[in-house]
Amino acid sequence: MEARRYETILTAREGRVAIITLNRPQNLNALSLKLMEELVDALEAFDADPEVGAIVLTGSDRAFSAGADIKEMADMKMVDMLLERRFLLWERIRRVRKPIIAAVSGYCLGGGLELAMACDMIVASEKSQFGQPEINIGVIPGAGGTQRLTRLVGKHKAMEMVLTGRAVDAWEAHRLGIVNRVVPPELYLEEAKRLAAEVASKAPIASLLAKEAVLRAMDTPVEVGLDYERKLFYLLFATEDKEEGMRSFLEKRRPQFKGR
Ligand code: CAA
Repeated sequence: MEARRYETILTAREGRVAIITLNRPQNLNALSLKLMEELVDALEAFDADPEVGAIVLTGSDRAFSAGADIKEMADMKMVDMLLERRFLLWERIRRVRKPIIAAVSGYCLGGGLELAMACDMIVASEKSQFGQPEINIGVIPGAGGTQRLTRLVGKHKAMEMVLTGRAVDAWEAHRLGIVNRVVPPELYLEEAKRLAAEVASKAPIASLLAKEAVLRAMDTPVEVGLDYERKLFYLLFATEDKEEGMRSFLEKRRPQFKGR
């Protein structure tokens, strides 16, 4: 991917892992419209780049993100919000096909938690906290918080978090199934990159379809999901990487995947 210039995020690549860093530290990485536009642009560019196998999304040590930009929203009325393209951007994040791993430290609140939950895995620093505090400012989560959180933690715990606005710490988030791993503060980004590198080393098309199949399980009756999975499984038998993967196993060597 040719280097693009952004104002509110930073991008980098390490091998097959792309790294996007939210970069509005003065506002605790509040998700302004500009930031969302740049984030989606970068995600889509990495998603289209065959050299990239997985994406790490991170913020700063102090804040992954403290949520939607309240300064930007404060004067908006219902019709402004309804007509704005902000939520179309969230839709586009949902369409990213490559695995995205959130590397979270500090505040992960409101839209910040919704963004982390829109990723596929979450690695958390011990010094992170997760919450949906929208109720404290007279609204409710608007980018998936009531839906994705409920599917992750169940009705009662989601209800508590959404109705009280209280945040949970990293270990509680781990116990609830919101985050994959909790690591010491200095290691969260490294650990997320390590996990992303492992994911990025696998057969690329199988990786895309695996993500698609698991996401399908979130919103499909199991019978339909099983049929869907089976079709994707058949599809992979048309790939060169399936031939290479199985041949390399029989020949007792490491596979050389091509993403074809
Ligand atoms: N939007 C805009 N600016 C924000 C922000 C946000 N969500 N969160 C923090 N900031 C800004 C603060 O206004 C402050 O800026 P100034 O220096 O210009 O005053 C700066 O970031 C630092 O914040 P604090 O001084 O408040 O830092 P703190 O350490 O005392 O508190 C905090 C940190 C507890 C996270 C507190 O900032 C906070 O409660 N933030 C709001 C969290 C929130 O309500 N998020 C939900 C937003 S709504 C949403 O996300 C809707 C949705 O579902 C899409």
